Amino acid sequence: MLQKKYAIFVFISFIMLYYWKKRIKQGAKYKTKMRLEGKTVLITGGNSGVGKSTAIEFAKLGAKVIIASRNVQKSRKAKMEIIAESGNFDVFAMHLDLENFESITSFVKEFDDQQEYLHYLINNAGAVGVHGLSESGYHRVFVINHLGPFLLTHLLMKKMKKQSLKDPVRIVNVSSNMYIFGKFNLEDIRTDAIGLISEVRRYAQTKLANIYFTRELNKRLQGFNITTYAVHPGSTITTDIWSWSNLPYFLKVPGNHLVRILFLREPIYAAQTILYCSLDDEVTRMSGEYFKDCAREELWEVAKDEAFGETLWEASVAATEKYLTRELI
Ligand SMILES: NC(=O)c1ccc[n+]([C@@H]2O[C@H](COP(=O)([O-])OP(=O)(O)OC[C@H]3O[C@@H](n4cnc5c(N)ncnc54)[C@H](OP(=O)(O)O)[C@@H]3O)[C@@H](O)[C@H]2O)c1
Repeated sequence: MLQKKYAIFVFISFIMLYYWKKRIKQGAKYKTKMRLEGKTVLITGGNSGVGKSTAIEFAKLGAKVIIASRNVQKSRKAKMEIIAESGNFDVFAMHLDLENFESITSFVKEFDDQQEYLHYLINNAGAVGVHGLSESGYHRVFVINHLGPFLLTHLLMKKMKKQSLKDPVRIVNVSSNMYIFGKFNLEDIRTDAIGLISEVRRYAQTKLANIYFTRELNKRLQGFNITTYAVHPGSTITTDIWSWSNLPYFLKVPGNHLVRILFLREPIYAAQTILYCSLDDEVTRMSGEYFKDCAREELWEVAKDEAFGETLWEASVAATEKYLTRELI
C-alpha cells in the first residue's frame, strides 16, 4: 500500500516537474529551415535580454541585423556577441532613444539613408519603473513603450510600404501578458506612477497599449503586404528584474533569485514567439492578433474595446503630430 502511494507521488512529481520545465521555464520552440540572406531586421532594444536573444536567432538564419538602443557602448558589445554566437558579420548597432522624438526622427533619417530594405521591424525595447513625465505630457514609461514605437513605426512606414510591393513586411510588437492589469484612461497616464503597485500598473497599461496599437495598425494596413502581431515573450531572465523597484535590499536579492529559478526563462526561449510571428507562413492569416508560446491567444475583455483602440490611436497621433510625416498610416 505504502509502495503504491510512493509510486503515485513520484509519478505526479515527475509530471509536475515536466510541466514546470516545458511550460514555465521554456515554452514552445520555433523550428525553421528558412534562410534569411538578403532580409533586413531592425530590433529596438537589441542590446540586452529578449532583444539580444532575438537578434542572435535572426543572425543565425543569415539576416542582416540592426539593433537600436540608447547605450551605444552596450550596443557595440552586444553586436560583437551576436556576431560571435551566430558567425554572421552582417550586424550593426545604431543609436536610438525612444523617449526622445528628435532622436527617433534622426534615427529614421540615418536608417533610410543607410538601408535599402526593411523586412522585419521588431518593436521590442521597453522600460518599467522610470519616473516623471516627458515633454509630450505623458508618463515616460508610456512614451518609451508606446508613443516612441508608434512614431518610429510611422516614420519607417514609407520604406516598409515600398518594400511590401516586392516582399512581405512584418511588424512584431513585444507586449506582455501583464496587459490584463492595464485598464486605463488617457488622463491617468498623464500622471506619475510612484510605488511598486502603481509602477507595475503603469507598465501593464503600456503593454495593453502595444496590443491596441497592433490591432489598429492591422486595420489601417489592409491592402498592403504588411502584417503585424503582438507578442508575450514569456517571463524572462533579463537584468536585475527588481532593480527599478524600491523593495528593501534584504527582500530584493533572495526574491530576485527565487523568482529567476522558479519562474523565469532564459532569453533564448523568449525569442521563440517573436521568431514564429516573424517567419511562420500560417501566422499571416492572424495579423493583428496576440501571441504567446508560438500560438494565438484569445485576448481578455480589457483589450477588446474597438472604440478605445481608435481613441488611443488619435491621442498618439496628437502627441507625436509635430514629428509625423504627412502620410499617416
Ligand atoms: N523580461 C520579461 O520577463 C518580459 C516579459 C514580458 C514582456 N517583456 C517585454 O520584452 C521587451 C524586452 O524586455 P527585456 O526584459 O529584454 O528588457 P531589458 O533587458 O531591460 O532590455 C530593454 C531594452 O530596451 C532598451 N531601451 C530602454 N529604454 C530605451 C529607450 N528610451 N530607447 C531605446 N531603447 C531603450 C534597452 O537598451 P538601452 O538601455 O541601451 O537603451 C534594452 O536594450 C520589453 O518590451 C518588455 O516589456 C519582457
